[in-house]
Amino acid sequence: MYGNDFGDFDDPGAGPLNAADTGEVEAAAAHADRRAELDLSDFDAIIAADQRIEPRDAMPEEYRQTLIRQIAQHAHSEIIGMQPEGNWLTRAPSLRRKAILIAKVQDEAGHGLYLYSAAETLGITREELLDRLHNGKQKYSSIFNYPTLTWADIGAIGWLVDGAAIMNQVPLCRCSYGPYARAMIRTCKEESFHQRQGFEALWDLMRGTEAQQAMAQDAINRWWWPALAMFGPRDTGEHAVKGGHTAQSMAWGIKRFSNDELRQRFVDMTVPQAERLGLKLPDPELKWNEERGHYDFGEIDWDEFWRVLKGDGACNAQRMERRVTSHKQGAWVRDAAAAYAAKSEGRKAAASNEGSAA
Ligand code: 3HC
Repeated sequence: MYGNDFGDFDDPGAGPLNAADTGEVEAAAAHADRRAELDLSDFDAIIAADQRIEPRDAMPEEYRQTLIRQIAQHAHSEIIGMQPEGNWLTRAPSLRRKAILIAKVQDEAGHGLYLYSAAETLGITREELLDRLHNGKQKYSSIFNYPTLTWADIGAIGWLVDGAAIMNQVPLCRCSYGPYARAMIRTCKEESFHQRQGFEALWDLMRGTEAQQAMAQDAINRWWWPALAMFGPRDTGEHAVKGGHTAQSMAWGIKRFSNDELRQRFVDMTVPQAERLGLKLPDPELKWNEERGHYDFGEIDWDEFWRVLKGDGACNAQRMERRVTSHKQGAWVRDAAAAYAAKSEGRKAAASNEGSAA
């Protein structure tokens, strides 16, 4: 029971719990490779025909660099994202919750690995990517610089942060770069489970004692706005931030929607769920707009967002310190794995030499 039981909210008209439950991931997975049949050899023609660019293809240097930047940032977010939740592994309120949280944190490590592998197909090594994270040249998501103060924060992260992450990542299953698109299909399926466990954890708290309900509400008060900011700066309308990457990334089929469109979709999907949970979203301007067919919502504190990106969030220093220390402490594991791989290769080569000599 990971939230599946609440899918209809006792209301047959209620929508899916998250963006991965809409059938879009399956549709992306069924995307047909028609490159041979269409005889597409040139980058622009492949993009225009909505086909996938593969590592062997020639591609503009800016496209390659944009992908390295985005996929690396995404990979870094997955592994840094293990920290706020890992913080609660030893304090989960039951064995069941603990087992679920361990599985979730382990999934995030796996997502990091899929993504680093996808980035490596663009001609950059994992060591270089991690160096860029550790020396601050590459970012990770703003959201992971907020602290997890209570158990309810684990529910809030699952429901809101994973819910927002999926809203952003489902369209990436149709990204024009094949290895990234394929990595996203499996990631989104796993993230769907994460979002459902968060919803279910909050569901239980909201049906618990007054103190538990207050704890859940406090977590939502703290996570709602950072979750909205996670979609990135405004990139449509009069408040659009200049110099963003959206227009170019959409022209290349990397991004399929603007940050603002995805943020709006997330708000529209989440508000009815909050009502069903009995939680109040901390925005006095949040209301249904009949004319637009969407919820209106208040302005995000963009000063805070840029401050967090520059390193001045509550947990930036702590997250980086922990990451760099863990990396150093893991050096012997990497060395041992490399020595084992070299030994295995040596044995294989010796066996095949013996075979050909016989
Ligand atoms: N956190 C940190 N930096 C962010 C950001 C965020 N939430 N949103 C935007 N930015 C940065 C961009 O990297 C860019 O900076 P740069 O030029 O120095 O690289 C700048 O703000 C302008 O933003 P743009 O919208 O123009 O940048 P992008 O086109 O790259 O779009 C994005 C930003 C929508 C986050 C896009 O990169 C993307 O879709 N990335 C893939 C998904 C991802 O990385 N998600 C992170 C969370 S993963 C996660 O949460 C794990 C899960 O287990 C919960």
